[in-house]
This record gives sequence, structure tokens and C-alpha cells, in this order.
Amino acid sequence: MPTISGLTLDRRSFLVGSTSLAAALSLPRESAGAIAPPKEFTLSAAPGRVPLVGPPYPETDVWSYDGSVPGPEIRVRQGERLRIAVNNRLSQGTTIHWHGVRVPNAMDGVPHLTQEPIRAGDNFVYEFDVPDAGTYWYHPHHHSAEQVGRGLSGALIVEETEPLQVDRDLVWVLGDWRLARDASIVGDFGNRMEATMAGRIGNTVTINGRVPNTIRVRSGERLRLRLINAAPARIFGLEFAGHRPLIVALDGQPIEPHEPPGGRVVLGPAMRADLVLDMTREPGATTAVIDSFYRDRAYRLVDFAYTDEPRLRDHPLDAPSRMRANTMPEPDLDNAERHIATLEGGMSGRGIMGMGGMMGMGGMGWSINGVSAIGHNMRPMLSLARGRSYILSVRNETAWHHPVHLHGHSFRVIARNGKPTRYREWLDTVLVPPREQADIAFVADNPGDWMFHCHILDHQDGGMMAVIRVA
Ligand code: C2O
Ligand code: CU
Repeated sequence: MPTISGLTLDRRSFLVGSTSLAAALSLPRESAGAIAPPKEFTLSAAPGRVPLVGPPYPETDVWSYDGSVPGPEIRVRQGERLRIAVNNRLSQGTTIHWHGVRVPNAMDGVPHLTQEPIRAGDNFVYEFDVPDAGTYWYHPHHHSAEQVGRGLSGALIVEETEPLQVDRDLVWVLGDWRLARDASIVGDFGNRMEATMAGRIGNTVTINGRVPNTIRVRSGERLRLRLINAAPARIFGLEFAGHRPLIVALDGQPIEPHEPPGGRVVLGPAMRADLVLDMTREPGATTAVIDSFYRDRAYRLVDFAYTDEPRLRDHPLDAPSRMRANTMPEPDLDNAERHIATLEGGMSGRGIMGMGGMMGMGGMGWSINGVSAIGHNMRPMLSLARGRSYILSVRNETAWHHPVHLHGHSFRVIARNGKPTRYREWLDTVLVPPREQADIAFVADNPGDWMFHCHILDHQDGGMMAVIRVA
């Protein structure tokens, strides 16, 4: 087990790595199911108050969907049609983006590109089919660093027609907040300095909108754990001490079941992982889930507390963990056209740790292929022919990690740093470490103008975004 050098996260000390933090602070698709009437939902974006940290701390003023953080879980079945009426009761415009779902372009929720922002007091109705099963999420795409940072996000679960056989299906929406001592949100959004680095990482991590204490489990049970990283900037690296999680899907898409390298599940902002987790410890045991992504700032996220009930079964459940693939078209690699997307900008490598006096050095903005998309620069970086296969090499020439998201499509990660990937995973958001390269391949089959951007929301605001046109 790793050493826990950060603070234990509980109700009495909810500041994660507060010392280093203090330092930082001083600085249209047709579907077979389309005949059935759509499933109707409503979401009202509005200010609310929720017990993020819990007593004795006061409740936290947030922006929420339907008064809850995260917003209500939307759960439908593969192939269904959704109609979601959104009412904006915030004091500013908003939109909703259905992250990872291959929606028609007009339903993608990108302000000034696919729709005008839903003005304060107005409504907008999203309607689309869900072609693929899996774990997705929804969030605003307008002023998203602040709107997501204040609590607007929720899970969107599309059930398989033949679901995995497990005892319980748990969804963990992972949130990250910057809270003051009275548990209120610190309003320093848009800090330019931290935007040039790792982004606005908070000091309080929540699971489903609460600082978690323990999760009760039963010895012998099998969990399907759907992890959703809804944080604006924090990357998670979760270790399940004493357990052997199997990754069975990434970004909603089934993958050959495998244990993550080093037993650690790494999730950049917006990424999801579905795990199969056999609770193999004895009744009464307590084990920790540790987040060790940032070196020297590991902390205990939550404990699994085994109940005293007798073991549910003596051997792990004998059921397959492999799921049926979704419906993505297979890219034709032999005839694919190649392009490069080079990520640049941010604080340069020199002197990152000693931030004092670094303001003037290096570029402050972020860019893709030399263009920093500030304001409404929506001219396409690439124009792709509908139905053709493409390989895009995403080159990170910065000193920071970037989770890069393409709208409207899922892509296979076929190579990293020139070497073929083992699982050729389908993703919609690929985490590219500093000075590394990921080659992604996809069929440009969904017409429209699609965002391609870093999902560290301060990086996106700082210009690390572009438009890819499919026509
Ligand atoms: Cu989850 Cu363009 O976003
Ligand atoms: Cu980034």
C-alpha cells in the first residue's frame, strides 16, 4: 500500500494537501428504438444548497440541477430516445453537453457553435437517441470552468440490453471543490496563474456530492463500479488496497477485461471507467481506496467497510466480465488520412515548483496547432470528409497532462508514443501525459462542427480547443 502523505479526508479535516494548496493559492442518427415515444426528463439549473462536507460544517451554496449535486442520474436503455427539457434558473446563460454520447450536432450543447446559450429564465429541449450503452455524463458547456466547478454535472447511464451480471451497480461521480473553512466555495475562478499549470485543483473531493466516509460492502459480493471524473481539473489515480479491480469499459465502451497497470485506475477529467470489483476480504474488514495520482499528495478517498454478514459466496461470482461491443464503425487504418494536433503552451518546465516570479515566463495561453481559440473563434482546424477514416496524432508538447476530448465520435487509441496499444481502447477523452503522443483513429461519420478540446476546463478557457468539421 502506498504511503499516505496527504491528509486523511474526513469530516474534520477535509482539506486535501492543504499545505501545497496554500502555496498554490498565494499564487442525427437513426435508431431501431426510435418508434417508441421518447423518455421524458426535465432538468432545472438553479442555485441550491447541499451538505457537501456534512456536519458540523454548514451546507454549501452550489449551482445544481434540480437542487442536487450531482444532478439526477439519467438512466435509460440502449437505443432509447431521450427528450430532456432544460430550464435555466441561473443568472447567466448555460447549455448542456451529453459527454460521450454520439448525438446529432444540433443537440451537442456547445454555445455559439451548435446553439445559442440558453438565456437566464429560458428553456431548451434536447432530444436524441442513445446508440451506445455505457457510462456517460452531462454538464454545461458555457462558462464551464465555473458552472461545473460550482456543481453542475450528472451521470447519464445507458444500460446494455444484456447487462453484466453483478450484485450491485454503483455510480461514483467524483467531484473536486475548492472550499473555504466554512465549506463555502472559494470564488476565485479564472485564476490566470493556475490556468497555465495543472488547472484549478480543489481541496475537497466528493463522491456523489458528499465527502465520503465509508461505503458498506458485503464479503463475497461483486460490484460494478462506474467511475465518472466530473472534476474541473483534478486527475485521479485510484488504488483499491487488497482488491483486484478489473477494467471492463472505458468512456462507456467495453474493453477486454484487464487489471489496470500497477493496480491503479487513472482518470483524467471527463473520463469514465467501469470496474468489476469482487469484495474478497472477510466480514468486518475495512480497506481504503487511495487516490495517489499526484506524487506526494496521496490521500484516502474512502473506506470500504465490510459488514458482519456472512460471506455471500465462497468463490468470486462465476460470470463473464466481458461486454458486447457498441456500434462504432471500425476505422480503415490502411486508407486513413493522417493529421497532427500539437498541444502547446502553459508554464514551461523550468521552475514549475518554485512558482514565485514565474508569471512573465513562457506562453500564458494554450493552443492547438498554433491557434489559441479565445472568444468565439470557431473556424475549423480540420475539415473531414464524412464517412472517411482518420488518424489524428495528438502531440503534447507541454509540461502538463491534457485529457483531450472529441465531440460527436468515439475513437480508438491505436498507439502511444509510436507503439501500438495493447487494448486499442475506444475513448472519447484521451489523457496525454507531458511530451507524449497518442494516435487516435475514427470514422468521421457524424456530420457537423465538433469541439476538440482539453477537458481541464481552465486549459479549454485558455485556448486549448478547436473545431473539427465533418461534412
Ligand atoms: Cu465534456 Cu466539450 O466536453
Ligand atoms: Cu489541458
